[in-house]
Amino acid sequence: MITSKELKNKFIEFFKKKDHQEIDFSPLIPENDPTVLFTTAGMHPLVPFLLGQEHPLGKKIVGNQICIRTTDIEEVGDKTHFTFFEMLGNWSLGDYFKKQAIEYAFEFLTNKEFGLGLLKEKLAFTCFSGKEKIPKDQDAFDFWKEIGVNEKRIAFIEDNWWGPVGNTGPCGPDSEIFYWTSKEEVPETFDPEDDRWVEIWNLVFMEHNKKQDGELEPLNQKNIDTGFGVERVTAILNNQDDVFFTEKLNSILRFVEKLSENPINQANLSSYKIIVDHIRTSTFILGDDRAIIPSNVDQGYVLRRLIRRAIRHGTMLGINTSFVSKVSEKIIENYKEEFPHIQKNKTFILEQLTKEENRFKETIVKGLSVFYKVIEYKEEISAKNAFLLYQSYGFPIEMIVEIAKENNKQVDVDGFYKEYEIHKKLSRQGAEKKFKGGLSDHSENTKKLHTATHILNQALREIISSDIKQKGSNITSERLRFDFNFSRKLTPEELKKIEARANEVINKDMIIEKEMMPLKEALESGAQSEFGARYPEKVWVYTIGDFTKEICTGPHVQRTSELGYFKIVKEQSVAAGVRRIKAVLE
Ligand code: ALA
Repeated sequence: MITSKELKNKFIEFFKKKDHQEIDFSPLIPENDPTVLFTTAGMHPLVPFLLGQEHPLGKKIVGNQICIRTTDIEEVGDKTHFTFFEMLGNWSLGDYFKKQAIEYAFEFLTNKEFGLGLLKEKLAFTCFSGKEKIPKDQDAFDFWKEIGVNEKRIAFIEDNWWGPVGNTGPCGPDSEIFYWTSKEEVPETFDPEDDRWVEIWNLVFMEHNKKQDGELEPLNQKNIDTGFGVERVTAILNNQDDVFFTEKLNSILRFVEKLSENPINQANLSSYKIIVDHIRTSTFILGDDRAIIPSNVDQGYVLRRLIRRAIRHGTMLGINTSFVSKVSEKIIENYKEEFPHIQKNKTFILEQLTKEENRFKETIVKGLSVFYKVIEYKEEISAKNAFLLYQSYGFPIEMIVEIAKENNKQVDVDGFYKEYEIHKKLSRQGAEKKFKGGLSDHSENTKKLHTATHILNQALREIISSDIKQKGSNITSERLRFDFNFSRKLTPEELKKIEARANEVINKDMIIEKEMMPLKEALESGAQSEFGARYPEKVWVYTIGDFTKEICTGPHVQRTSELGYFKIVKEQSVAAGVRRIKAVLE
């Protein structure tokens, strides 16, 4: 029996021996990445470094990243998928490339002493088959063969391409590694469509940059980005054919079973898995220091959808009491040692889950009976009815579609979004993008707003209180959002003063400079840091003239005069002792 923690240590130690430096995981809610809701891969927080910025820890990195992929939500319930998972990775930032990455991966998987000692006969590989102007990745095929892989176990696939995270950025062909998970004999020839082969590791050869116009250009440096599924490999090493039977998840599954009247069986297992997965993801979203709460937009909407879906599946299992926060407590218990931040934010997490459960419980029973009436008499759920279920009973549209599907009925989803638009809550495009994880946007305006955030941060300290510290930030291409510790509402006069000070700095045309330095030195020099954030030993510090200094990865504009006019559009409370300012540049 090997635990996921032991596996993680093994991976990290292996790469440390190969001169990689370990990085801590980044928050699940990306900082300053405007339209991406969640961190979806280990490379996500590394984008500036994949594009050429020098990483404080060097060119070879290893780490474990917590990720959320809501696009997999429909898949949850099978043996391998989650909406939240841990992904180990090793990264070369312009150092080694394809051959070395393949050799490392093969050694780690098969070496008995330093690695996992998996049988090479149970491994299979895919390589990029080429598409449009980009040629087939013959090199990857040749390197796998050279290392001793039987060519019948290497398949070329068109889909073997990874990135960019949004519309633009680093990307490249990849090579995926599969493991034979069945007790049946391993077939000689690899068929990637056969789901007894489970993908365990993805090696991305990041050598392209996708531009705004959709064209690819070569990156200044060739990078390696890999993603290794912790739970999947833990299951494999313990001869379990289902990720939910790994130690931590299995004990949560059993905990939920005790809350229900129904013992786990083949027919209800997927509901159990959905509950465990969705409450785990919700726990980690709420556990992020950015204090996201259930709502109808952005991350809050995803959170709401996950919690409500878990509750519906709880109802299906006959769980009649409040259960979400109980399950979450068990999850925190199981994960707190490796992720102490969820223990730190436990009260907030449980409070929010209970509130949301109570809110939905008030309407779900009534809503479901209305739902079944509609289903009984109608072929299709009309836009108006779907909107009623959404608006009056709190059913997320995706849940309406799901329940309709279970009853072989259609929903007028287009009409629903039109109805939604009429109510001016969210455009269809907005809603869809928001749920899918959005798009990364490194546009000029985002950069400007990022610089404006540093200016706002300092202006607040000058005008309101020198104790103010950043507690979170989120930037879209339209606006900045800045959270900070303060206990009361700011007055209109104070807001005016802050605005005026920010615009004064902007008009002084200050130069923005960056410098890398040891964390200790940065803090001693007075550089601002985010409350509760964990930083590596060496960090980038951005200085705006003689006005402010902040630890930050960037990017920023070069001169403050590029920003235009700074205007505060909203000031509000987000949690006890935390205020939020939204501002724009005009
Ligand atoms: N970024 C790659 C992935 O997530 C490694 O699969």
